[in-house]
Amino acid sequence: MFPKELYINRREQLRKKLQSGIVLLPGNLESPMNYPSNGYHFRQDSNFLYFFGVDLPGIAGILDIDEGKDILFGNDTDIEDIIWMGPQKSMKEFGTDSGASRVEPYSGLATYIGSAIAKGRTIQYLPPYRPENKMIMGKLLGIYPDRIRDYSSVQLIRAIISLREIKDRYEIEDIEKCEDVAYEMHTTAMKMARPGILESEISGVIEGIALKYGGMISFPVICSIRGEILHNHNHGNLLKEGDLLITDAGAESSLHYASDITRTFPVTGKFTQKQKDIYQIVLDANNTVTASSKPGMTYQSVHLQAARVIAGGLKDLGLMKGDIDEAVAAGAHAMFFPHGLGHMMGLDVHDMEDMGEDYVGYDSEISRIDQFGTAYLRLGKRLKPGFVITNEPGIYFIPELISQWKNDNKFSQFINYPAVEQYLGFGGIRLEDDILITESGCRILGKKRVPVTINEIENIVGNI
Ligand code: GLY
Ligand code: MN
Repeated sequence: MFPKELYINRREQLRKKLQSGIVLLPGNLESPMNYPSNGYHFRQDSNFLYFFGVDLPGIAGILDIDEGKDILFGNDTDIEDIIWMGPQKSMKEFGTDSGASRVEPYSGLATYIGSAIAKGRTIQYLPPYRPENKMIMGKLLGIYPDRIRDYSSVQLIRAIISLREIKDRYEIEDIEKCEDVAYEMHTTAMKMARPGILESEISGVIEGIALKYGGMISFPVICSIRGEILHNHNHGNLLKEGDLLITDAGAESSLHYASDITRTFPVTGKFTQKQKDIYQIVLDANNTVTASSKPGMTYQSVHLQAARVIAGGLKDLGLMKGDIDEAVAAGAHAMFFPHGLGHMMGLDVHDMEDMGEDYVGYDSEISRIDQFGTAYLRLGKRLKPGFVITNEPGIYFIPELISQWKNDNKFSQFINYPAVEQYLGFGGIRLEDDILITESGCRILGKKRVPVTINEIENIVGNI
């Protein structure tokens, strides 16, 4: 856990923003995989971690703003738990570690909430995303579980996002540790790659690196020669000469902060000219984003700038044509770049999206552009110092999408379909770094940037 003053201060900031009422913050429970005592790895709720830091299943927190109390509800372990799990910290100790003013048994939660309801007090909560928490909260609040999200508090969501979106130095330090683990994961994948090895041999090793440092992976590893499938979690292919391998993977620290890096490289360690040409366009787009992201800019405008770099590069190769600004405004680039430039990152790899992607990425000033491709941009709003975000442009040749657009004669004024068809089977390239918005610009997080130039890649791939 961080120093208790940090949790006390975060709760104080939230209290100031809300001014009255009660905030109910349930933690997560164990989640069974196939029978009750065979559980998935326990993952605490990120908002609970942010405000209380206690990484234990089956506890809940209350901020009673009117009475100025922060209460943790949870049960101490008994002798049977100790036999199976060993001695555990007491709830009193967790109360001290998190600076909570009171600790009560879990059964006290229903009494506390029941009494607040009876007095007509306002109870604010976040939209639960796990079925068991929907059931528990439904019972506590007297709301059908399938309606519980509808009554969650937008005021609370906005207040928490305004706090969590600005990372403090403790959080940045922890994220940087995850970046250094990701460096080892990605450079290991590069060194291991060669024709004749299975994707799963690489993905298994790099997942193990995340675990070796005491945390876990921050999301299921993507390690695939079918890079045109954006979130491909299948690891069954054998690497062959001529393939590009895309690896999108990150680590989660023991405090549950994330990293999220993507690299794409030829499995032989030598790019073909065609691969080099497309790779360099994606790298130019990525570098343009790092050079131009700064406070005050909207990430929506940076996304569109990256799209123009991509469309311009594809025009130079003869795959696109016409006026590039017009092509991007119309959305023609999205056949090649059909996803958003990036998202916030912190305690969640897609930070805070449990509270609603639109609340995290957009606001009253910037709304989502409702156009294929650009609509998938998860973060569009103005950047502020302390934001940690991903920069992940890509170019993909998706056979089904190309064929559909060609048959519909879509954007034929901007897309040179006969030339594009020469690239069927190419796969896809994505290059992702994590950046911190500073007072004057941004910087790539981590001690060293994961090898990314064509030279760096050709020097490291296959070089054990
Ligand atoms: N790296 C996975 C994602 O951003 O969705
Ligand atoms: Mn990402």
